[in-house]
Amino acid sequence: MSNKVLDQNISGENVKVEFEEGIAWITLNRPQKRNAMSPDLNREMVNILDKLETDDRCGVLILTGEGESFTAGMDLKEYFREVDGKEPREIAKTRRDAMIWQWRRLNYYPKPTIAMVNGWCFGGGFTPVISCDLAIASEKATFGLSEINWGIIPAGNVTKAVSEVMGHRDSLYYIMTGETFDGQKAADMGLVNEAVDHEGLHDRTRQLAKILLDKNPTVLQAAKTAYKYCKSMDWDMAEEYLFAKTAQTTSIDPEKGREQGMKQFLDDKKYRPGLEGYNRDK
Ligand code: COA
Repeated sequence: MSNKVLDQNISGENVKVEFEEGIAWITLNRPQKRNAMSPDLNREMVNILDKLETDDRCGVLILTGEGESFTAGMDLKEYFREVDGKEPREIAKTRRDAMIWQWRRLNYYPKPTIAMVNGWCFGGGFTPVISCDLAIASEKATFGLSEINWGIIPAGNVTKAVSEVMGHRDSLYYIMTGETFDGQKAADMGLVNEAVDHEGLHDRTRQLAKILLDKNPTVLQAAKTAYKYCKSMDWDMAEEYLFAKTAQTTSIDPEKGREQGMKQFLDDKKYRPGLEGYNRDK
């Protein structure tokens, strides 16, 4: 059952923000345009991500789309055609807003993020899906790198994002053919974590968010950030960085999780860290 509460102050014309027991549901909300990402929507998303960073009502962020679409990708009219003739600095600013939220902010967001792909997901839509930490798709969702079908290449960092999660052959196949594929195929290729029955999509995503909400948030943030930065480091750098990151995390953790865990396992013999988390109420 849903207990979502709409926040009209944070929501915009094109994006809806609702809170539900530690979860912030961010819904791209232009269903009449299949949630295509326009310059206005992109600016709203930048502002919303900024605000939620320090909002305690957001422990986990879920990104999804209103209606039958996650997003139909970049807005071909408002983001491309109407911007094409503009002055270079204005073009750069419009492009920057899109990139800020679709990968720069989402990729390193301090809260855990889940993309819930409920329907159509085309072109530019791949970038925020991949930039979220985790992704769950409806079996009914339809994905497509459709750029080739209308004469451009998957830019806006789509190609780079795809290369992070999909294999060489699959990436080139879909980039070059523009063929669509469903949620199950997306899961099989590693584009999303799993595909679920459409009716169970909200419940499964909420359940995953709750698992994350139960974890120590300071450590969770450090763990995911470390993973993302480590990917581009060599082994020597990663070893050094991870030692430093561990020391930093332990020293700033207000819960003193490491100490608690050790005490509860080694002294109190109250839990088994291989199978469950330490008791955070202690
Ligand atoms: N940019 C701008 N407008 C878009 C859009 C996009 N990416 N995708 C859909 N729309 C608009 C349509 O122009 C239409 O607007 P209108 O009602 O003013 O004519 C409205 O959304 C509905 O689109 P429609 O094609 O009628 O919906 P559908 O349900 O039959 O098909 C899609 C849905 C997503 C399959 C189809 O709209 C589509 O192919 N969109 C483009 C997807 C794409 O290639 N995106 C890559 C961009 S990077």
